[in-house]
Amino acid sequence: MNDIEKLISQIGDLPTLPDVAARINREMQGEALNAKLLGEIIADDTSLAAKVLRLANSAFYGLQKQVTTLNKAVMILGFNTVKNLALSVSIYSLFKERPGSAIDVKGLWLHSLGSAVAAKIITENIYKKLGEEAFLFGILHDVGKIAFINAMPREYEKVLVLIRDKQMPQADAETEVLGFTHQRLGSQLLDIWKFPDNIIQAVKYHHEPELKTAKLDPQLKDLIRALFLGNQMTKALHLGQSTNPAREEIPKIVWQSLNIKRSQLNDIAGNIKSSYGLLLEAWDLEGKDHG
Ligand SMILES: [Fe+2]
Ligand SMILES: [Fe+2]
Repeated sequence: MNDIEKLISQIGDLPTLPDVAARINREMQGEALNAKLLGEIIADDTSLAAKVLRLANSAFYGLQKQVTTLNKAVMILGFNTVKNLALSVSIYSLFKERPGSAIDVKGLWLHSLGSAVAAKIITENIYKKLGEEAFLFGILHDVGKIAFINAMPREYEKVLVLIRDKQMPQADAETEVLGFTHQRLGSQLLDIWKFPDNIIQAVKYHHEPELKTAKLDPQLKDLIRALFLGNQMTKALHLGQSTNPAREEIPKIVWQSLNIKRSQLNDIAGNIKSSYGLLLEAWDLEGKDHG
């Protein structure tokens, strides 16, 4: 049995990728995804399409003129922005509240959204064009937790008890109760879901910003560090609620490679907070019926 098979046999039911996201990934793999096809895939799901348009027109993107069609949105915001918005809205349907459970799934979603905004802003500081990619990293970074919560909610509640009451580090608690971490499960899941390799690596290493052993492209390393820092800043700013409230030490290499000085931190934090507020305004938290 290889790694993936072993994981799957242990975890049982893995969540399936919602339809729109699955179609986008399939077409991307076949290299057939262009603006026209993207528009068609989105338009097939009326409520998802409406939400993508609403987000595109939100103050978060600050367009001068409102866009009324998906084609216009792609023209003005760019293909990647619209694609990643569609993926985000589609993936949001996996974050379902569980009545009677101690796990705050809505809080975890808001934490993911906050991490997405933060990773985007931090990344754009050094790579203007890669902010959108970092945004998607933020949306998906803790998706392994969703898989755990779906398949083994009782066990995951035990993990949370170990973290909160025994102050056990998250990775140790997950490994003790479940046998592996959410970053490992999440990256395997993204592989099964046919996401590109960059995001698989980002999810795998989002708690290891030093990246000592990982053989990755230097630019990807910077993006992973932006995701790491965004994750920590989101916790510090109380945007949403991670299942693990403890913050990690931020190693020097993170500040260095992201070219951030302490004196800039307040400005960046303010920017993250206000941008998150603007995006959240347009995000209808009730509409959870998207595929
Ligand atoms: Fe995480
Ligand atoms: Fe997180």
